[in-house]
Amino acid sequence: MSGSLARGMLHKMGGSCCPHHAPATNPFRMAKLHGNNKSTDYAFEMVCSTLRFGKGVTLEIGYDVRNLGAKKTLLVTDKNVQNTIAFKNAEQALKNVNIDYEVFDDVLIEPSEKSMQKAIAFAKSRPFDSFIAVGGGSVIDTTKAAALYASNPEADFLDFVGPPFGKSLQPKNPMLPLIAVPTTAGTGSETTAAAIMDLPEHKCKTGIRLRCIKPYLAVVDPLNVMSMPRNVAIYSGFDVLCHALESYTALPFDQRSPRPATPEVRPVYQGSNPISDVWSREALRVRDKENQC
Ligand SMILES: NC(=O)c1ccc[n+]([C@@H]2O[C@H](COP(=O)([O-])OP(=O)(O)OC[C@H]3O[C@@H](n4cnc5c(N)ncnc54)[C@H](O)[C@@H]3O)[C@@H](O)[C@H]2O)c1
Repeated sequence: MSGSLARGMLHKMGGSCCPHHAPATNPFRMAKLHGNNKSTDYAFEMVCSTLRFGKGVTLEIGYDVRNLGAKKTLLVTDKNVQNTIAFKNAEQALKNVNIDYEVFDDVLIEPSEKSMQKAIAFAKSRPFDSFIAVGGGSVIDTTKAAALYASNPEADFLDFVGPPFGKSLQPKNPMLPLIAVPTTAGTGSETTAAAIMDLPEHKCKTGIRLRCIKPYLAVVDPLNVMSMPRNVAIYSGFDVLCHALESYTALPFDQRSPRPATPEVRPVYQGSNPISDVWSREALRVRDKENQC
């Protein structure tokens, strides 16, 4: 990727017609690679969770937890997913290596501030040193919040929530490790640095956006989405489509301001850029191809 990025920069400087790196007038738009003035950013950063993909990989997570040196794990799920092969295999994986774990299954679908606080209270009530989320975006986001606040027990809930309702503070302590096992195929929460929730009293949806809440490992097992109800499968597909469109049409990274004072405060969502453009185009192409079948 870095080779093709560098080639892209060279081609762009030389006015290349390469479709992936052509100027904005071309059908393949690409973000500009240089700041256009001193107040806008001039760089973007790709920060990734490790992602393991394969049929049956859920049965491997016991080894991952053991390799972390974990003594007590919190396994988070919801009451529907708890009856699926995904959860059964995750539990089996922990039993296979004798990991001490407890289950929290009281996740609200479309989590709220209140439902997340319930999970946080449970996570703080025992000395958990590692977290596993088995479920869709609702479960994974709730587990991120549980792990973040258990790692920073002094924090108030709104400390890490984004503005205007939250303070968007940086946590004192890094988040304890989280392994995410998605059971839907849309949110991408298993590799994102966001946890989304409703604030019903403000009638709004907001979230926590912090690099440190990215899962340590995403375990993507195609067997786990087989049990998705039809509508959940359809809505997941629309989620992918919307993410791809949103990302591809976002303000390019080098037109965003203010430019961060230091690299660590560069935001989680950095605008469109040459790397996310590749993924977005591919996601849009796959959806288009599937629709033709
Ligand atoms: N953190 C992020 O980056 C991010 C990105 C996009 C969306 N989200 C959030 O994710 C949430 C939506 O997540 P979602 O679309 O993955 O769905 P979900 O987790 O809300 O689940 C939807 C329904 O499907 C059920 N379900 C999930 N997987 C199943 C399976 N394999 N078999 C049977 N039933 C299953 C659940 O029990 C639930 O009833 C929203 O709150 C949204 O805001 C987060």
